[in-house]
Amino acid sequence: MCGIVGAVAQRNIVPVLVEGLRRLEYRGYDSCGVAVLSHGEPRRARSVARVSDLDAQVKESSLAGMTGIAHTRWATHGAPVTDNAHPIFSRDTVALVHNGIIENYESLRTMLRDKGYEFVSQTDTEVIAHLIHSMYRGDLFQTVREAVKLLHGAYAIAVIHKDQPHTVVGARQGSPLVVGVGEGENFLASDALALAGSTDRFAFLEEGDVVEIALDGVKIVDRQGLPAEREVRVVAAYGGAVELGPYRHFMQKEIFEQPRAITDTIPQGDEFTANLFGENAKDVFADIDSLLILACGTSYYSGLTAKYWLESIAKIPTQVEIASEYRYRESVPNPKALVVVISQSGETADTLAALKHAQSLGHAHTLAVCNVATSAMVRQTELAFLTHAGTEIGVASTKAFTTQLVGLFVLAVTLAKLRGRVDAKQEAAYLGQLRHLPAALNSVLALEPQIIAWSEEFARKENALFLGRGLHYPIALEGALKLKEISYIHAEAYPAGELKHGPLALVTEAMPVVTVAPNDTLLEKLKSNMQEVRARGGELYVFADADTRIVSEDGIHVIRMPEHYGALSPILHVVPLQLLAYHTACARGTDVDKPRNLAKSVTVE
Ligand code: M6R
Repeated sequence: MCGIVGAVAQRNIVPVLVEGLRRLEYRGYDSCGVAVLSHGEPRRARSVARVSDLDAQVKESSLAGMTGIAHTRWATHGAPVTDNAHPIFSRDTVALVHNGIIENYESLRTMLRDKGYEFVSQTDTEVIAHLIHSMYRGDLFQTVREAVKLLHGAYAIAVIHKDQPHTVVGARQGSPLVVGVGEGENFLASDALALAGSTDRFAFLEEGDVVEIALDGVKIVDRQGLPAEREVRVVAAYGGAVELGPYRHFMQKEIFEQPRAITDTIPQGDEFTANLFGENAKDVFADIDSLLILACGTSYYSGLTAKYWLESIAKIPTQVEIASEYRYRESVPNPKALVVVISQSGETADTLAALKHAQSLGHAHTLAVCNVATSAMVRQTELAFLTHAGTEIGVASTKAFTTQLVGLFVLAVTLAKLRGRVDAKQEAAYLGQLRHLPAALNSVLALEPQIIAWSEEFARKENALFLGRGLHYPIALEGALKLKEISYIHAEAYPAGELKHGPLALVTEAMPVVTVAPNDTLLEKLKSNMQEVRARGGELYVFADADTRIVSEDGIHVIRMPEHYGALSPILHVVPLQLLAYHTACARGTDVDKPRNLAKSVTVE
């Protein structure tokens, strides 16, 4: 989604701004731009192509300046054309970039038109630029503080004014914004990753904050207008994340990073303890009678998988809801339910809004399972479990998913232990299994050549069905999501027992049916479902545990997984599905890391 970078320095800041945009490219965008104050005038370059094109433009035009802002735009209001690309100008005086959506932009536009402002874009953003221009009385910081009071909706903004050559002012409400602290220079960005090349010291702004960055310091006021201190933290972890190394795409790199990511996420120590989730987790866990999991996309599927663990191992009732549905429906709150939000980014607008909605309904106990320690979700929940996947660049989530599963499994066993449902022997066995996971994953990754051979078949298809049962049904859902989002092949997942209730009508020789076949208690039932497919001529592509005795024969292709891995088997079984989607997308020549229409971090509704 949209990305912001801003900087004030005593050197030409354009290369820093463009490099920041390059680091934000992975989030998804359809236009980009940069503006600087150059000899007292705002000048800009904008592109509806890639950041590399913008870079070429700024070099060709020798765009340079010591104060500036830059943006990657993911279109919401108005098509991805140059006029709608940010920075947006107001009367060649104010330049502004914006993430989010201004809900009352129509009434503001009418009011500004009445004042004589002309609108040249279809964006909601243009109203903010004109509003600030119309309210400016010599102090940009003060003007922004006043102006944001009139905005309804979610935003992060960065703005410069021609009369204040060494100042960038920012504000946030519902969209992230971070200050990067340098030596005699300071920065703003929507994601600290954007500034990784310039500083490792960051202050994370709170909701409602307005900030002024200057050469020699940073000034922040909170939503009440009171001076605010935001802790400056050293975050050095972003360095290598944007380097591709020997891989063709970030998605492939991230799939192969999973053994390391899981090693980093598995708790140290010899026991499952409530402290892993926060200081007062033990008291919270003693006070709850159920779980309500809220998430979107892949994170929702990790929640669905966790439900099986939480109910079978910890015997705790668990409800899993799509965040964007939960936030708008009338639910019956149970104050004894622990609300668990799951998110790679910790900034997903729907999940954040669902969390706030749950809190407003009286849910006091909240936990985030999240990959970004500094994210809004981690800051807004009582408890947190951090996954240590490292920065995930590919839009298709892979290592974030498997590390979420590790975190949720640890949660299930911890709750089970606190409820006396897991004894010391079983606890040690679970811990041993977790510790062995990275090695087991390496043996699954070694299946890549066989999966590449299948992907060449899949690349010629336009539809695919995915089947799983029980604990592996969410894995089938995740496999179908991976395939559709990066290869653009229409894919649907079903619990295999549901096939005969409708989707079997789709099965012909042309329909590949991917089957997740672990050697669990449902295996014989699954084999019957596979026969239903074969009887209709459907072609089965089965990822079967070595001990299932499912063999390749006419119409049944089998890739053999390791021996059955018990409760943790979903973490192994999802990996070949990630690889199948990845190689199928490569064979079809899609933009794997930045699939069309999608963004990495979905910070708008
Ligand atoms: O950052 P989050 O985990 O909250 O993101 C949720 C979804 O947007 C995300 O999982 C999305 O479905 C991925 N593109 C799937 O690969």
